[in-house]
Amino acid sequence: MGNSKLIIANWKMNGNISKINNDFMAYINNSYTNQPNVIFALPSIYLAYVNQNLIKHNHQFKLAAQDVSTFQISGAFTGEVSAEMLKDCGTSFALVGHSERRTLLHETDDIFYKKIANLIKAQVTPIFCIGEPANQRQQASYIQFITKQLALLKGIVLPASSRLIIAYEPIWAIGSGMIPTLEQIKEMVEYIANYLTKQLGINNFDILYGGSVSADNAQQILSINRVAGLLVGGASLKVPEFTNICRFAAASMN
Ligand code: PGA
Repeated sequence: MGNSKLIIANWKMNGNISKINNDFMAYINNSYTNQPNVIFALPSIYLAYVNQNLIKHNHQFKLAAQDVSTFQISGAFTGEVSAEMLKDCGTSFALVGHSERRTLLHETDDIFYKKIANLIKAQVTPIFCIGEPANQRQQASYIQFITKQLALLKGIVLPASSRLIIAYEPIWAIGSGMIPTLEQIKEMVEYIANYLTKQLGINNFDILYGGSVSADNAQQILSINRVAGLLVGGASLKVPEFTNICRFAAASMN
């Protein structure tokens, strides 16, 4: 309570050193973006670079990974990056369960469960992404669909000192320019909050909205009481637009 709503930039597999140098110089010098409620989810190879180079500029924003290994302990797991390694490089959050990983990388609940558990153990806050495809929305079975996605959290032990972030991202809204109505977002966010508290006994959580967020719709979505922030894809690659979204967040309190 009393904090600005979270704004998470999901760069996906975009960017390079030159864009990072350019964009982060702007972000560090801007009072709306250099804030602890602003989080950049970068390709993991750039996380340590941003952290090291901006530490001398005293950055307030936080860093997130877009993925983490299912393996917990260091060892013979070629190509993997552990939750501990992310933490070691200054990463405070990590995305899990994004629809692109579900569809393109065929990741399943079992994988998400391990990733979330590893992150919590390493004190990295998981941002668990859920959302229904268009046909589930049309058939009015989206609540059942979302409930099934949330059910894997049943075995997760969340210490009182940890937090869980849920990003509600309807698949049909991601990258499409279409967003649900404010009523539809409100309904889902309230449903998810109820499920977490009543079915799972989890109270330390935030629920975000994601999917075609832009500077044109961010203010309205942030005005929904239960929405604790936004997960921004495409619009997070444009410095002026993303800065505007952060400006709206600065005016909206959780
Ligand atoms: P979008 O992506 O804002 O480009 O729709 C959101 C996401 O995939 O996290």
